[in-house]
Amino acid sequence: MKDITSEIAPTALHATQIAKSFGDTQVLRNIDLSLAPGEVVALLGPSGCGKTTLLRIAAGLLSASSGQMQIAGNCVVDGAAFNAPPEARGIGMVFQDYAIWPHLSVIDNVAFPLRMRKLGRSERETRARRALERVGLGHLADRFPGTLSGGQQQRVALARAIVAEPPLVLFDEPLSNLDRELREGLALEIGTLLRELGLSAVYVTHDQAEAFTIADRVAVMLNGEIAQIDTPEALFSAPERVEVAQFLNIGALVEGRLCASDGFTCTTSHLTLPFLAGKAQEGPARILIPRTAIRPDPQGALKAQVLRCQFQGDRYLLHLGLDGQTISLVCPADRPAAVNSQIPLAIDTDRLRVFPH
Ligand SMILES: Nc1ncnc2c1ncn2[C@@H]1O[C@H](COP(=O)(O)OP(=O)(O)OP(=O)(O)O)[C@@H](O)[C@H]1O
Ligand SMILES: [Mg+2]
Repeated sequence: MKDITSEIAPTALHATQIAKSFGDTQVLRNIDLSLAPGEVVALLGPSGCGKTTLLRIAAGLLSASSGQMQIAGNCVVDGAAFNAPPEARGIGMVFQDYAIWPHLSVIDNVAFPLRMRKLGRSERETRARRALERVGLGHLADRFPGTLSGGQQQRVALARAIVAEPPLVLFDEPLSNLDRELREGLALEIGTLLRELGLSAVYVTHDQAEAFTIADRVAVMLNGEIAQIDTPEALFSAPERVEVAQFLNIGALVEGRLCASDGFTCTTSHLTLPFLAGKAQEGPARILIPRTAIRPDPQGALKAQVLRCQFQGDRYLLHLGLDGQTISLVCPADRPAAVNSQIPLAIDTDRLRVFPH
């Protein structure tokens, strides 16, 4: 009888309670992270939150202080004592600074991981050419990296990372040296390529749009911890912590008090949200008003002052002040609005989030 369990691919990455300190400073704590085969997870967080440190531990370039990690079912980290070397992990890597070898031609750069795996010359060449075709560089196979643009060099690094179809590809801000237009296009391409090849990846970025373009799930990292890991949609509709809502800039956070009979009363202004009566526990709380929860509407109950109207090509972004400008909101609109005019806003109460203190 066939052993069915052996056909189920192991998790691409499984990390439990990874922690890292440099001297007395702890920079990672309580990191639990699991990637299904073919899954792409982005690590998104502000500068210094520990993204690169976690990625370097996964790559084998840095040892953990404690915790365990498996890649494709193999133990690669076991506490501070065991740290499998990078070449034993069979992973692909793409970093910010390209890291391709200037003395090797483009095709030799791409074929390098296959040479490490002792594949024969003709197979190496066929597979390297195929990887180059995939990233749109088939015509540059015989050039040297010094003669390529930044975007082209990063495509070479990408081709090299995927050529062996590894169980896990690690990316650390691979697009941050490129200009915005190129970045957006390449982010989409990387996402598509990973999906077509069914590759699992951890993708570090501090760019929200990039994370949402590429990843199935996004881990928001704050102060050395994964604050929340979810699909982009779930992060926006149900941030679990105020800090996550703040980092993602989901909307306005209003400080106040919830009362069973009167609803929400703002501390710093006269704003009240009576419809929140009885909806959550009484007491001090913060209310998140996501920008997707408000829209200009002639029947709207809230009155806002237009502070700024920003044209964004396909729509307008209104910067609004509520209640004598004590609360700032941003809201997308199909039409422009005159600065200093008052506009009525409709509010989708189901989208508000309450964070009790
Ligand atoms: N070798 C080291 N020795 C001491 N501290 C370090 C070392 N490497 C990183 N750190 C510290 O660990 C923290 C996390 O750094 P890390 O590079 O992981 O951040 P990051 O999230 O990748 O930031 P960025 O978005 O700026 O790249 C920072 O406070 C950093 O100063
Ligand atoms: Mg970094």
